Amino acid sequence: MKFEFKNSEGALQGTLIAPVLEGMGVPPRLAREDKEETLARAITAQNFNGCKGEFCTVLLPTGLNVTLVGVGKVEGGVETWLQTVGGSLASVLKKVRQKEVMICTSGLSEVKVKTGTAAAYLAFCLGLGTYSFDVYKTKKKETPEVELVRILSSEVEADENAFTSLFSVLNGVYEARDLASEPANMLPPREFVEAVKTLKMKNVALKVLDKKQMQKLGMNLVLTVAQGASEAPYLLMMEYMKGKKDEAPVVLVGKGVCFDSGGMNLKPTAGLTHMKYDMAGGAAVVGTMRAISELGLKQNIVGIVPLVENMLSSKAAHTDDVVQAMNGKTVEISNTDAEGRLILADAMWYGQETYHPQIMIDIATLTGVMKYVFGSQYAGLFTNDNSLGTALKKASEETVMDKIWELPLHPEYEKMLSSDIADLSNIAKGGEAGSATAAMFLKNFIAEGVKWAHLDIASVGWLTADKPCSPKGATGFGVQLLTQYLINREDS
Ligand code: BES
Ligand code: MN
Ligand code: ZN
Repeated sequence: MKFEFKNSEGALQGTLIAPVLEGMGVPPRLAREDKEETLARAITAQNFNGCKGEFCTVLLPTGLNVTLVGVGKVEGGVETWLQTVGGSLASVLKKVRQKEVMICTSGLSEVKVKTGTAAAYLAFCLGLGTYSFDVYKTKKKETPEVELVRILSSEVEADENAFTSLFSVLNGVYEARDLASEPANMLPPREFVEAVKTLKMKNVALKVLDKKQMQKLGMNLVLTVAQGASEAPYLLMMEYMKGKKDEAPVVLVGKGVCFDSGGMNLKPTAGLTHMKYDMAGGAAVVGTMRAISELGLKQNIVGIVPLVENMLSSKAAHTDDVVQAMNGKTVEISNTDAEGRLILADAMWYGQETYHPQIMIDIATLTGVMKYVFGSQYAGLFTNDNSLGTALKKASEETVMDKIWELPLHPEYEKMLSSDIADLSNIAKGGEAGSATAAMFLKNFIAEGVKWAHLDIASVGWLTADKPCSPKGATGFGVQLLTQYLINREDS
């Protein structure tokens, strides 16, 4: 879907959707078009007041086909409210059966957003809300779908400026959703790497380590998780070095388990559903790299994605196996389903050895219990640095959906990871504090002085029901958050 901002002066033809605030009547721009007062009479006849959930479709004598969408009153934060407006417009847009549609924002001329313009923000929300993944539907849709959205505006230049950067973020979110929607048979580790290569991201250098190279480096945790699968593991690096030469980079690490069966500790049937999206963290890192390369940020940023399948076979890791990580620590694999932390541990260590980052952020569908804690409202944030946590929370507040909530890294959680045979176990005894002990496991692989944050997105990576700006399925969670965090860093 394309978006275009257009001066609203000329005569209007075609199909038009207009958000209408409660009690406002016909939006000013349409009133001008409505010489015979057809719209005015229609809204009276249909008792349309602009309340949330009300619609009114009218064909004007001029041939202009108008759908008024009630959006109620501005409530709470303007941005949050605009998201629900975007969501309502998205649901109308999905049903209009036209290739081109106009959106008249003159009803929202009083609405002011903190940054940019209301029209640009609305277009962004519309883009987020109208995503669909139908590459594998062979049956062509019989009715046309919207390809071009023309947003009528009285300040085209301001809207276009504001939308340019939002569009880069939108592309990043779409990329992440596309990757996480792909089934495991279509996107094993090797294909994930290929997909990223075809993106040809500007100023992003790709580096890939294969199994042999990882063996040489002693990345045994990655290799152990991957050893039960016939698909080989890869470590993908995306280097974007547009900052100062000697400036230590920000390193983003995303979990890339292309399918998580649980391994020997096999998941039950319900738990296996949608485990193709266990690379949503990796997908979010790719989406973020795509967004920042389009935005042209002046920073050094590296994305790393360890890619594996966690499968079951005679070659798969056993429970109780002891494996030495790249950083030298020995790990008892008490549960083969706690695989995400294993691959992240080696990937983060490699990231620190290779790039000497000042800041490292990992993002992962790490623990299923997040869903019980947060539903689909928040991802969990863990950090060893308050200022990094604060900056991430601030960025989160500025996104449409990427909300996060901080959870503690209490020192007691460290003791819960003790092992009788190795330096540490990959799960906590008794299974208490599942998400925090997983975070604490990762902390064992953070070098002294590195500021680190861990985002557990198991709660929010996939939706089973639509949200206004996130249709059910892969959400692309993290792209907006990480991109906004990096944009804010640029400004400060
Ligand atoms: N990929 C799962 C976590 C997950 C579950 C993400 C459901 C999204 C939805 C992860 O690898 C896993 O299996 N974690 C275990 C940890 C346990 C063995 C300590 C879990 O959550 O049960
Ligand atoms: Mn698992
Ligand atoms: Zn997993």
